[in-house]
Amino acid sequence: MIIKLELSNEDYIKELEEKFSDIFLNNSIKSDFKNNPYTNYLIYLIDDKIVGFLNYYFMYDRMEIVNFNVLDYFQNRHIGSSLLNKLMEEAQEKDVNNITLEVRVDNEKAIYLYEKYGFKKVNIRNNYYRGVDGYLMVKEFNKNRDIYILGIESSCDETSFSIVRNGIEEIATVISSQIDIHKQYGGVVPEIASRAHIKNITYVLEECLSIANMKMENITAIAVCFGPGLIGSLLVGVTVAKTLAFLYNKPLIPVHHISGHIYANNLVKRLEFPLIALVISGGHTELILMEKDYSFKKLGGTFDDAVGECYDKVGRVLGVEYPAGPIIDKMASIGNPSYELPIPLNDDSYNFSFSGLKSAIINLVHNEEQRGNVINKEDLACSFQNIVIEILTKKTMKALKDYNIHNLILAGGVSANIGIRNKFKELCEENNINYIFPSIKYSTDNGAMIAASGYYAYLDNRLSDLTINAESIVELK
Ligand code: KG4
Ligand code: ZN
Repeated sequence: MIIKLELSNEDYIKELEEKFSDIFLNNSIKSDFKNNPYTNYLIYLIDDKIVGFLNYYFMYDRMEIVNFNVLDYFQNRHIGSSLLNKLMEEAQEKDVNNITLEVRVDNEKAIYLYEKYGFKKVNIRNNYYRGVDGYLMVKEFNKNRDIYILGIESSCDETSFSIVRNGIEEIATVISSQIDIHKQYGGVVPEIASRAHIKNITYVLEECLSIANMKMENITAIAVCFGPGLIGSLLVGVTVAKTLAFLYNKPLIPVHHISGHIYANNLVKRLEFPLIALVISGGHTELILMEKDYSFKKLGGTFDDAVGECYDKVGRVLGVEYPAGPIIDKMASIGNPSYELPIPLNDDSYNFSFSGLKSAIINLVHNEEQRGNVINKEDLACSFQNIVIEILTKKTMKALKDYNIHNLILAGGVSANIGIRNKFKELCEENNINYIFPSIKYSTDNGAMIAASGYYAYLDNRLSDLTINAESIVELK
């Protein structure tokens, strides 16, 4: 007989903890019941004695098997399959999308049983069992059901919501930019940014749902950018995401901002792996190697300023409004590279440095001004942009060659730059490299990229509970 354990079944709880003491050594079942609203235990009884159990979480639209064990003496008597059958019945009843579990890669017997039940190995969790790898296995129900992810981005000065179907198809996106507010200060003022997010965020959500002609009930899961970024700004998006997840009982997916920029490319064309991503934005300059979805290996990054930051600071001395990137790009296209500037960190590494280049330009402008000479701004913009293009393409093409990779993507606000795109396009075609650039409107921050990235995080089971926090600095993992 199989029954569902309740907190009130004190005798069974005690018996279960004693019989499987190696599993429950540090975990009391009572406190699990009290602290975890998702936890469930099925116990298998013979003559009113426990011989096996299955502990699983039922969370919204999915289940996860956490512990599953049958006493040695009772193995090979279909007790395990009976417990699994019971779980499958409940999964069908509750209409869940999938059941996931982790299993040691060397536990062939268990893997065989799970495969019989339609579980598939989808990922390897390195070192999951202290020295032994684990497989992540998933059994999908309702395979044809579309997955709608609501993406929320508020890490800097854009408040944005988007709904994306199955990670590739954008249904609706609304971006409320604060650029006009911050322009007068020459850059983003954090406190003003947070207040503007608070003011706008519910309207942006309503507009997004209305354009998509959808209700929150139709959304499968909520993805939110939790960092890195401005802490006050991030908190607004994260708080809204948690509130919506709680109110509508939806899974919550934390998404790293850079992963969002990377997956903006997935909305143009499905990513092909392995690939190298050159991430160039206002806060980041990084080369990242991806072997598959949600696997990020950083090859190198900037030691100081990010390339977008450098554009914005050079813009200031040229008297260009924030954000200066797009304007410098235009100026560069009509100028000549007549100024001589240093090529920063021109070595064989995959790292970058932009503060020296920035300082060289600031000094050059001041010196010329002191001498009473007029700067040709278009020429200086062109000279600057040429150096940026040279160093970015040199290091990226080297990484592609060194790692023998034939797929390149650009990501982040600076990837909107026409000069940078043109040069990469030319080099990729020359070297037989497939390339994807994000659409210009989704090069800078938006909710669609968070939703697209959130979809693959959802498939990889990277969900979070309501204790998730915003983080101003956080590694991409
Ligand atoms: O990705 P993003 O919206 O925000 C961050 O995550 O940092 O990037 C904003 C940055 C700004 O520094 C802006 O000047 C730069 O992207 N940017 C450009 C261009 N468009 C935006 N930089 C160079 N050329 C452009 N066309
Ligand atoms: Zn960004």
